[in-house]
Amino acid sequence: MWQNRIRRTDLHSKIMTADEAVHYIRAGMTVGMSGFTRAGDSKAMPVALANKAAHYGPLHLTLLTGASLGNDSDGLMSQSHVLARRAPFQVDATMRKHINEGKVLFYDMHLSEMAEQLRSEPGYPIDVAVIEAIAITEEGHIIPTTSVGNSASFVHQAQHIIVELNSAMPVELEGYHDVYMPGPRGAREPIPLTTVEQRLGQTAIAVDPARIVAIVHTEQLDSPSTATPPDAETQGIAQHIVSFLEQEVAAGRLDNSLLPLQVGIGSIANAVTQGLLESEFKDLEMYSEVLQDSAFHLLDSGHLRFASASSITLSAPMMEHFFNNLEHYRDRIVLRPQEISNHPEVVRRLGIIAINAALEFDLYGNVNSTHVSGTKMMNGIGGSGDFARNAHLSIFVTKSLAKGGDISRVVPMVSHVDHCEHDVDILVTEQGLADLRGLAPRERAALIIENCVHPDYRAALADYFERACLRGGHTPHVLEEALSWHQRFEETNSMRCTEAVL
Ligand code: COA
Repeated sequence: MWQNRIRRTDLHSKIMTADEAVHYIRAGMTVGMSGFTRAGDSKAMPVALANKAAHYGPLHLTLLTGASLGNDSDGLMSQSHVLARRAPFQVDATMRKHINEGKVLFYDMHLSEMAEQLRSEPGYPIDVAVIEAIAITEEGHIIPTTSVGNSASFVHQAQHIIVELNSAMPVELEGYHDVYMPGPRGAREPIPLTTVEQRLGQTAIAVDPARIVAIVHTEQLDSPSTATPPDAETQGIAQHIVSFLEQEVAAGRLDNSLLPLQVGIGSIANAVTQGLLESEFKDLEMYSEVLQDSAFHLLDSGHLRFASASSITLSAPMMEHFFNNLEHYRDRIVLRPQEISNHPEVVRRLGIIAINAALEFDLYGNVNSTHVSGTKMMNGIGGSGDFARNAHLSIFVTKSLAKGGDISRVVPMVSHVDHCEHDVDILVTEQGLADLRGLAPRERAALIIENCVHPDYRAALADYFERACLRGGHTPHVLEEALSWHQRFEETNSMRCTEAVL
């Protein structure tokens, strides 16, 4: 096994247990770990770090990753006092609680930007990189597993590197990755990517093997995807999007292969991709962050020609199917660093159709993707902003209601803005779709109320808008009432109100 996985023999002396390797990580350090949307994350080192904190006290680490980790690692490390700071994304309920209690300081940032920020730091901004790999090449270069994420940047910027070799990951994943890093600002050439399938770099992360201080063995698959199957509402959302795209084709603004698709995380996004199975579109392409089960359904049905992403996050059966058919998919998938999969330059050049989910949006098209009731962090902005601002079409989707109807996800004013009205082209709920392109704020509001709001809240929102318009303004509001729906939810557990309150 080691022969095939550690092809540079002088590195065999670096094999050790995770509990031994963890001695390289000391209190107060900055650690960069592989892992993107629960794929390709370190499995053994988070447990070893939790054990170390239990024995020696809080570690106060700053933990940077690609995106979310699986295996409850974020929760384990936050409740075991391993972490003081965390960036750039997480989806863990325990960590979310600690972030919202102020116990873990979370730096929520656009996923494409971390590599850029690290590059501008002198010296080694990362003390230790922990990278899951399928193998180390003869040159000592590291071949990632199911995600690339920020791993190449962490390896380049780290003083020491711990490689976690995962023998549950097939070594035949070699060749799926394309590791390319832009040069330093000031001397940088354009990223030479003009088609989704183009390869720019290497299949492994180049590194001076002298910086590899430990090699740890694991044999554990990624945590399976948590996306739930489509329901009536998410199918409704998907149908509205498919009909809209068909109209764009009929109007001559797109052809039948559309433009490359980016689809965000979560159940709604998965259902939207699944909805394309029912469409007549052919030779579709994805230029996205994450490939979920639905992307593989589209590849298998022949709708999807090629998929570029930074990670593959699948259900257990789909992961087994993928691993059993690696040769079949080899020429149709590429995994890139998140800096490249999400790069604004490339997104703008390719003309992406970006579909991301919202927690809530408002009358004028501002979108909140991150903060429940304006204050409590959900997951983070992830890559949604990388795509939304630069996409050919920026689409945001959400169910019109949450919490059994006590929350309207279309509100007078969002309680936190992640994507401003200028970055949002299309809004979709199960009620319908609002195409906001070329519309002034007052026109946007009328269309959103008519097409997207749940009937239970439509009259109240129409009433708000009418009264706002009486006060005038380019973007009319009744300022003292703009957040009253959120306030009412805080006070009564429901945004619903009686006529008298209105
Ligand atoms: N107020 C309070 N709670 C709300 C809410 C609102 N306006 N809207 C949704 N919620 C709750 C839901 O009730 C649900 O809670 P539950 O799990 O206790 O039932 C939870 O938030 C998630 O909502 P759901 O509708 O299931 O959404 P989802 O799984 O599709 O995720 C986001 C939606 C916005 C949280 C998710 O897409 C996200 O984190 N986006 C930001 C990152 C991103 O867009 N990345 C894309 C590039 S890959």
